[in-house]
Amino acid sequence: MVTTPQWIMIGGDGPESYYQHSSNQRALLEAAKEKMNEAISAKLSLNLISDRFSVADFGCASGPNTFLAVQNIIDAVEDKYRKETGQNPLENIEFQVLFNDSTTNDFNTLFQTLPPGRRYYSAGVPGSFFGRVLPKHSFHVGVISYAFHFTSKTPKGITDRDSPLWNRDMHCTGFNEAVKRAYLNQYSADTKNLLDARAEELVPGGLMLLLGSGLRDGVKMSETVKGMVMDFMGASLSDLAQQGVVEQDKVDSFSTPLYFAEEGELRQIIKENGKFTIEAFEDIIHPYGEFPLDPKILAVSFRASCGAFLSAHFGAYAMRKAFELVEVKAREEFSKIQNAKPGMQYLIVLRKI
Ligand SMILES: C[S@@+](CC[C@H](N)C(=O)[O-])C[C@H]1O[C@@H](n2cnc3c(N)ncnc32)[C@H](O)[C@@H]1O
Repeated sequence: MVTTPQWIMIGGDGPESYYQHSSNQRALLEAAKEKMNEAISAKLSLNLISDRFSVADFGCASGPNTFLAVQNIIDAVEDKYRKETGQNPLENIEFQVLFNDSTTNDFNTLFQTLPPGRRYYSAGVPGSFFGRVLPKHSFHVGVISYAFHFTSKTPKGITDRDSPLWNRDMHCTGFNEAVKRAYLNQYSADTKNLLDARAEELVPGGLMLLLGSGLRDGVKMSETVKGMVMDFMGASLSDLAQQGVVEQDKVDSFSTPLYFAEEGELRQIIKENGKFTIEAFEDIIHPYGEFPLDPKILAVSFRASCGAFLSAHFGAYAMRKAFELVEVKAREEFSKIQNAKPGMQYLIVLRKI
């Protein structure tokens, strides 16, 4: 039986790791701190803040950004408690943080690098966030940061050369209507399952904070920097097939379980799910932009995020060669990158109905 490998980050804290190369994802969390604080201050009921408060991060990776995400939430909860009760949260509240990711995520690096001096107890929650991973009513505020663009599998037909849905590209570029519809259907179904699961696990009135990268309405993935880099990855794999480093058949049947949704699509999926109200949908624009426009940094940061998945299909040698070529292509096409349409970075605040 062929199984789809899980999409995990490159683990450890070495030179190729997500740990070392996730500063663009971190920049969003830094930029959104104030808005996260405002959301918790305005939308979380004080009644939910009592002696034990649980925060859960879904798709936490091996760190370190997860530590910032949960700290932003804990700081906001403490602020609210201090302001509204006049009491000291340090004396009255114990925090628990539940770190979720796929079973093959590098939880060892995560736990070995937990911030010293933290004010919370920690637990790992392995398993796919598309299903239940926690008991009912087990956390008060959840966060998903840069992990809200996954599907549980590539849509049916996409990797089959004989199917009318066969996707020559390794991702949903947005230019093929039928492929885009197949990806959107898969993403909608998976995201509804994810929201159903979180709705059961959250306490009533609890919040989910979704941060990540998407598309502005009407913009196609391959018109943005992230889409262009994915196109370079596909082109690099094709070059490697021509050089005999990987098999052409493998490249033809390779597609990624990712879908970067448009704002309107995200709103509709959440509305149709019906388990949450959208309390805020913020477009987070910050000085660092979605990506640093530097070919080397782009190649290294996409390698940290996508390299493990590519390695599982093509082997580590081909993966490294592919990203060397990605850097070359990004240099060659740099003016195209500079003129890319803007992507969208968001903070969505959901409250469980
Ligand atoms: C780009 S990383 C984001 C990590 C971190 N939240 C951050 O902001 O830097 C995406 C994470 O989502 C995780 N992930 C992807 N699919 C998942 C699933 N079905 N269940 C749990 N985690 C998943 C990956 O393993 C990866 O660690």
